[in-house]
Amino acid sequence: MGVEINAQQTEDSEYVNTVNRITLEVHKRILAPWLYSDFIYYLSCWRKTIHKCGQPYYIDFSNQVIRDRKQHYRNIKTGQNHEDVYLGKRKKMAFLDLLLECSENGGNLTDEEIREEVDTFMFEGHDTTSVAICWTLYHISNHPDCQEKIYEELQSILGDSDRSPTIMELNEMKYLERVIKESLRVHPSVPLIGRILKQDVQIDGYTLPEGLILTTIIPSIHHDEETFPDPEEFNPDNFLPERVAARHPYAYIPFSAGPRNCIGQKFAILEEKMILSYIIRRYKLHSSGIESLPGPDIILRSQNGFHIKITPR
Ligand code: HEM
Repeated sequence: MGVEINAQQTEDSEYVNTVNRITLEVHKRILAPWLYSDFIYYLSCWRKTIHKCGQPYYIDFSNQVIRDRKQHYRNIKTGQNHEDVYLGKRKKMAFLDLLLECSENGGNLTDEEIREEVDTFMFEGHDTTSVAICWTLYHISNHPDCQEKIYEELQSILGDSDRSPTIMELNEMKYLERVIKESLRVHPSVPLIGRILKQDVQIDGYTLPEGLILTTIIPSIHHDEETFPDPEEFNPDNFLPERVAARHPYAYIPFSAGPRNCIGQKFAILEEKMILSYIIRRYKLHSSGIESLPGPDIILRSQNGFHIKITPR
């Protein structure tokens, strides 16, 4: 969005906590079909609960991000602000600037619609990736052989230097990519996706009627023995090119599939590689022996946290 929120400096972020509380409540609603009707939902105490979770704060936060960036954008246009890390050096616009430009140049986006886009990107962009990084670190800590291979690959690409990798170097990290993908297979950050049928669909002699809400349970697809023999085993070789080519393209869908799939998937993998390579180059991860258990939520968090021992290399 082009706005600094200093997430690295604050251990306890109200925004992150609010997102956690809201996603948990949304998941509870998914499991309570009697609350699917908006009429009942708004009458029930759940509405109040979501409010209590901090929904007003969440909306204010996004609105503030938009207001700040709007002001910044106007200052740039009127020549009052020449220094811009996002626009100046890289000559690339932040995503939010593009949205603002669209709306200011006679585009069709209302303030509300801009906020919804900002909410979607901020939510989809941070929680999914951070959870994926946590599960990957967890799996690496439990598989020293796999950790060694990642380290060797990083050494061969970056040697002993401690600078950040370039995009080209990130693309060379093939083994690390297989580890990231395998971790998303075993623990996909988004466990459920929903769709409403726009027309009747025939499956196995049954007619699923138009209007039906369908839920795809991604972990079930990823743990199908026919596609992944020994599905509970963490095995990055599942993503060797020949094995990927032999599978149905929808047998592995951590980023969903079809026209509404994840718009940030390539970015997410690069982001993960950047952070994971940074950690593995400097630290060794060791298993604590404590199993992390996925909890019920719309994001696949661990309900008991991630207990990993870390020592400097
Ligand atoms: C490991 C990280 C990520 C995972 C596992 C993930 C997963 C997903 C999934 C499963 C969906 C589809 C939901 C559906 O079909 O209903 C989705 C949609 C989306 N994701 Fe991601 N995502 C990740 C990272 C990101 C990042 C980094 C961004 C943005 C920078 C992002 C932006 C979006 C957006 C905007 C959508 C909605 C697309 C649409 O509705 O057309 N995601 N993501």
